[in-house]
Amino acid sequence: MPAPIKSVAVIGAGTMGAGIAGLCASIGCDVVLLDVKTEIAQQGIDRLCTGKRPVITEDQAKNITAGSLDTDLATISACDWICEAVVENLQIKRDLFSKLESIRKDGSILSTNTSGIPLRDIYQGMPERMQRDIAVTHFFNPVHIMKLVELIPGSKTDTDVTDRLAGFFDGPLAKGTVYAKDTVNFIANRIGCFWMLAGLHKANKANISMETADALMSKPVGLPPTGLYGLIDLIGLDVMNFVSKNLDTNLPATDPGRAYLTMPSAESNMLKNKQLGRKTGGGFYKMIKSDDGSKSMEVFDLSNEAWRAMQPASLDDQHNDIKTLMFSDDDEGKFAWDLMSSTLSYASALVPEISNDIVNVDRAMKWGFNWAEGPFELIDSIGAKKFADKVSASGGKIDGMLKVLLDSGNETFYQQDGSEYLNAEGKYVSVS
Ligand code: NAI
Repeated sequence: MPAPIKSVAVIGAGTMGAGIAGLCASIGCDVVLLDVKTEIAQQGIDRLCTGKRPVITEDQAKNITAGSLDTDLATISACDWICEAVVENLQIKRDLFSKLESIRKDGSILSTNTSGIPLRDIYQGMPERMQRDIAVTHFFNPVHIMKLVELIPGSKTDTDVTDRLAGFFDGPLAKGTVYAKDTVNFIANRIGCFWMLAGLHKANKANISMETADALMSKPVGLPPTGLYGLIDLIGLDVMNFVSKNLDTNLPATDPGRAYLTMPSAESNMLKNKQLGRKTGGGFYKMIKSDDGSKSMEVFDLSNEAWRAMQPASLDDQHNDIKTLMFSDDDEGKFAWDLMSSTLSYASALVPEISNDIVNVDRAMKWGFNWAEGPFELIDSIGAKKFADKVSASGGKIDGMLKVLLDSGNETFYQQDGSEYLNAEGKYVSVS
């Protein structure tokens, strides 16, 4: 049995660090939360237990001790797990890890919550002990709600380290661990950002309204009600732009996602005008509050870059089910096919590059992006042979796991009610 994690240090008390500290405190761990100033760490704790929907109780908050990196760094020496969640900056993270390494106790674990910096860039040239004891632990926002934690070991990370972290996440913290590899944006954001960035370009060319694009990219394909534009409003167009830049630096040269890294012209203008989404009071959508208290929604029509009243889309039966939608020979069907087939083909081609198996990919999209079914489950629902035939007929490439499936002579990625999946060798094995 790997040693349990009972005491935790979180460095960085922003959105993610405070969230991780609160989660650990809520199950009774002793938590130290450090930031550049004690007041910032304390504000992080206060945010957790105040407001309309407190995340933890005042009693649970007593399990967290706020401190500053200047005066309280020595307190991490008592902790089993030290989780770094400071700003996304390689040099800041490396400087911090050098300090943490010299103070932490033997047998403790280090992790970074980075969303995009390769782990190898963080541990490169660091002491051997650190390289054995470090991993990426990528939580999703909001930490107390999202089930997914992506766990990424480095090339020298001990399996005891990943076992202890996964045991802690899947056990006391009640999260869902997904094992990913040290590749750009890991699993969920690699596929999810492809879907969003490709979506902006493909929806732009489709002969449908933005409301229809969002209606199609939600319930009919098993995705959350925000759809495409609504999700980007939630995340922020500036964050998507930051993600694109990171992808530009780190995506392999031949990656199909490279085609979508530059924002379309209307979205570029929105960025320039700081029309970023919900956080700036409007992005693709905005809510209008009238003097009489009534509320209505407007949409920023990308075709003429002007606000207009939102016109809710109503979908026919054949557009309401992915099995018929993807094969409809109309504008709705063409858009849904274009975006979903390229995203599912992308996911298929990325195994084993980003994950050893399809199960971790499916779980990452369900637990991190709230998809009802992961990419491989979706292909099974559509019918893998039917899907592959249309990909080939449209001039697409059959790659990765879809090719493995077809070559194996089987028809589905999962069998026995989902208890077995097809591995990269084309054999069915048990889902763990
Ligand atoms: P944030 O901006 O909310 O918080 C960052 C914290 O780091 C601040 O409290 C700041 O005072 C502190 N800080 C800044 N410079 C520092 C330094 N030199 N030393 C120590 N602390 C310093 O950032 P957020 O969103 O919490 O992100 C933290 C990490 O988590 C980043 O690596 C980010 O990429 C990653 N992440 C963010 C997600 C999100 O949705 N916000 C999701 C998953 C990962």
